[in-house]
Amino acid sequence: MGSGTTLVEAKLLNRHVVGVDINPQSVSISETNLQFQCETNSKICIRNGNATDLNFIKDSRIDFICTHPPYANIIKYSKGIEGDISLFDVEEFLNEMKKVANESYRVLKKGKMCAVMIGDVRRNGKVIPLGFRVMECFLQAGFTNKEIIIKEQHNCRSTAYWEKQNNNFLLIAHEYIFVFQK
Ligand SMILES: C[S@@+](CC[C@H](N)C(=O)[O-])C[C@H]1O[C@@H](n2cnc3c(N)ncnc32)[C@H](O)[C@@H]1O
Repeated sequence: MGSGTTLVEAKLLNRHVVGVDINPQSVSISETNLQFQCETNSKICIRNGNATDLNFIKDSRIDFICTHPPYANIIKYSKGIEGDISLFDVEEFLNEMKKVANESYRVLKKGKMCAVMIGDVRRNGKVIPLGFRVMECFLQAGFTNKEIIIKEQHNCRSTAYWEKQNNNFLLIAHEYIFVFQK
């Protein structure tokens, strides 16, 4: 959920929605951001929970998944909440993302889509293709690739630098939206 952007859009689009975040602060920020009137009638369910275990959702119940996990530990979203995957370095993070992918596959209806936004990271001057490694987690869970969308990462430290270079080659100034199909 983060600050609840996906839930806000779901409310505007009149879609029933279940939002999950491990951080209770995200729950309260999302609740605040959802306090607006609109002419839709969507049911909104907010859970303070772990995306690696969606046991409160039965198999094949969900029409669409939209998830935006941390990019390993480049931004830490809490100071020690158990299960917060933003506290894990790459390999541990990917182990948790495998569980997220398996749970996503389980709860989604057959033929429906799962969208995952994720970016790459750099360690000791070298690129770690976190996006493609997360993509592999979802493919191993049983999904197929429907689309790979590349999006400019607006709040990235290096974006402004690359924009000024006046060419079309941008290094880690983008993130991916993988659209998987069950
Ligand atoms: C990149 S942010 C999401 C931002 C969101 N798209 C928005 O618009 O605000 C990642 C979120 O994942 C949450 N998170 C970390 N580990 C989690 C887990 N195991 N289960 C569910 N949420 C988790 C963090 O608390 C954080 O709010």
